Amino acid sequence: MGWAGERHLKCYLGLPNVEVVALAGLEEPRLHELGQRYGVPNLHRDYVDLVARDDLDAISICAPNHLHAPVAIAALESGKHVLCEKPLARTGAEAEEIVRTARETGRVVHIAFTQRERGDVQVLKRHILNGNLGRIYHVKATWMRRNGIPGMGSWFTNKEMAGGGPLIDLGVHMIDMALFLMDEPEIESVSCATYAELGPQGRGGRGDGKTIVGDAYEVEDLATAFIRVSGGATLNLEAGWAAYRESSDDFGLTLYGTDGGAEMRVRNYGTQDTVRIYTDVDGVPAVVVPEIEPREGHLAVVRRFVETIRSGEWHGQVGEEGLRRARIIDACYISALEQREISLDIHPGSR
Ligand SMILES: NC(=O)c1ccc[n+]([C@@H]2O[C@H](COP(=O)([O-])OP(=O)(O)OC[C@H]3O[C@@H](n4cnc5c(N)ncnc54)[C@H](O)[C@@H]3O)[C@@H](O)[C@H]2O)c1
Repeated sequence: MGWAGERHLKCYLGLPNVEVVALAGLEEPRLHELGQRYGVPNLHRDYVDLVARDDLDAISICAPNHLHAPVAIAALESGKHVLCEKPLARTGAEAEEIVRTARETGRVVHIAFTQRERGDVQVLKRHILNGNLGRIYHVKATWMRRNGIPGMGSWFTNKEMAGGGPLIDLGVHMIDMALFLMDEPEIESVSCATYAELGPQGRGGRGDGKTIVGDAYEVEDLATAFIRVSGGATLNLEAGWAAYRESSDDFGLTLYGTDGGAEMRVRNYGTQDTVRIYTDVDGVPAVVVPEIEPREGHLAVVRRFVETIRSGEWHGQVGEEGLRRARIIDACYISALEQREISLDIHPGSR
């Protein structure tokens, strides 16, 4: 029933022939407010009662990260398809269990990797597929905020509930966008460092009124990683909720290819004028500024989820991309803890 949950709700209700049967969430007043505003007839406090219903085809998971695996597994085991918010789970081991259950039950697991659905990322993808950038050999992916720790003292800053800080929260989007644009290369190794400098001092919070679960700041507030992928290409990642920098919430990608390069700069979730493509025209450096149509990520994800279920053709759509990203993040946290590069051809296992 947070921001993500309401987005899912609005997207389902905007699609033809989709009925939202029930909602679950802990905050009673919010539950009733949402039920009334969107005309959802059945309201449950705990997810367990919602998942137990036998009149649902599918569920969306928009709860804190520690609940993604238990809710997904319970839903799949009772025959429901699952759309899970990112990250798929706190660890690779949890994500693996979800994927295995989806395979065993023959159900769909999709993940709300919403940022890759943006108009600018899709335009970049088309340029890459058309060969305009040649072979991409280095990518920089960054998401940085000045004061953007979500819910200081809420599940977001609790290690057990969130699984990590900005790396698992924002970094997972950046890893997803980068790997999507790089055509899903194999990951060979990661070297990562994490920092917790502002959060533990009570600085960098966004004050967004989430339920408080404790006062300790237990996760990183900045992470940086160097990732080697198959074919010799590399990815530089940076994800921070809080740092002394300009007062904005910015993400972006830099791509260097053998025949062209690209920059995507998104400031405060803007959608206009975000992409530059660098190339040569007749041997002279040229800049292409594509016109981008804004595209709402959640709507694209929810629509595809519904269409996939309707089509009856969902073989193999069991959330493997979410598992791959969870394994990379596992390896990043191990690398940061052990202060060394982690090779991914050795299964990093669970944290
Ligand atoms: N794709 C995106 O752009 C995007 C954006 C924001 C959040 N998210 C993801 O969505 C998820 C939720 O984030 P949020 O910011 O909306 O969090 P939030 O804290 O605002 O909301 C979480 C909701 O989960 C509910 N909940 C907790 N325990 C429950 C239980 N036992 N049974 C039923 N409901 C329970 C709470 O009542 C609350 O309504 C996270 O995994 C986050 O990473 C994704």
